[in-house]
Amino acid sequence: MPGLTIGDTIPDLEAETTQGKINLHHFCSNSWTILFSHPGDFTPVCTTELGKMAEYAKEFNQRGVKLLGLSCDDIQSHNEWIKDIEAFTPGCKVSYPIMSDPKREIIKKLNMVDPDEKDSSGNNLPSRALHIVGPDLQVKLSFLYPATTGRNMDEVVRVVESLQKASKFKIATPANWKPGDPAVIQPSVTDQQAKDMFPQGFETKDLPSGKNYLRFTKV
Ligand code: BEZ
Repeated sequence: MPGLTIGDTIPDLEAETTQGKINLHHFCSNSWTILFSHPGDFTPVCTTELGKMAEYAKEFNQRGVKLLGLSCDDIQSHNEWIKDIEAFTPGCKVSYPIMSDPKREIIKKLNMVDPDEKDSSGNNLPSRALHIVGPDLQVKLSFLYPATTGRNMDEVVRVVESLQKASKFKIATPANWKPGDPAVIQPSVTDQQAKDMFPQGFETKDLPSGKNYLRFTKV
């Protein structure tokens, strides 16, 4: 059976975090949330990633996005580790909660298990999974990276912007799109509807097929 993926509602579960016990649905309700997992505390790539996430927290906050990390180790370990994270990325403050999952139950429910990574006792470890969850509690986008590849937080900001724009307007964002670039109008929108929806106008690209499906607009 496939695990949690785009369009699925996240499971309702309780978790211990560095900021107390949370209910996942309650935490994620009515706002965008980034749920991101890490193979383990006191590991090099994870230490850089959590610091970068803390550095970018302002970017996410400005966009109404909450952050919630996960590493399986216990809360005492997380609190010790946070000192290293903040020392490695000077000026950053890990202000977001980090879940613990000693029984590896949450990582299974959130489809964050890396089949190739095991701890010294043979227990599965989480991959570098990242789910962006909408205010409706549904997964809107997921990354799944192996332990050896750290994530790029500029890319996380970029996709948040894309998701939030596409939730407001009938647009999509093309390859290598960056915030501020023109977006494309979704194919289901007729030209007549596009005139009403996008009073700022749109530009249709001439293509060999003669089909007018590549329409750019600024939103
Ligand atoms: C790391 O975070 O650096 C890491 C963790 C597990 C395997 C490889 C790298």
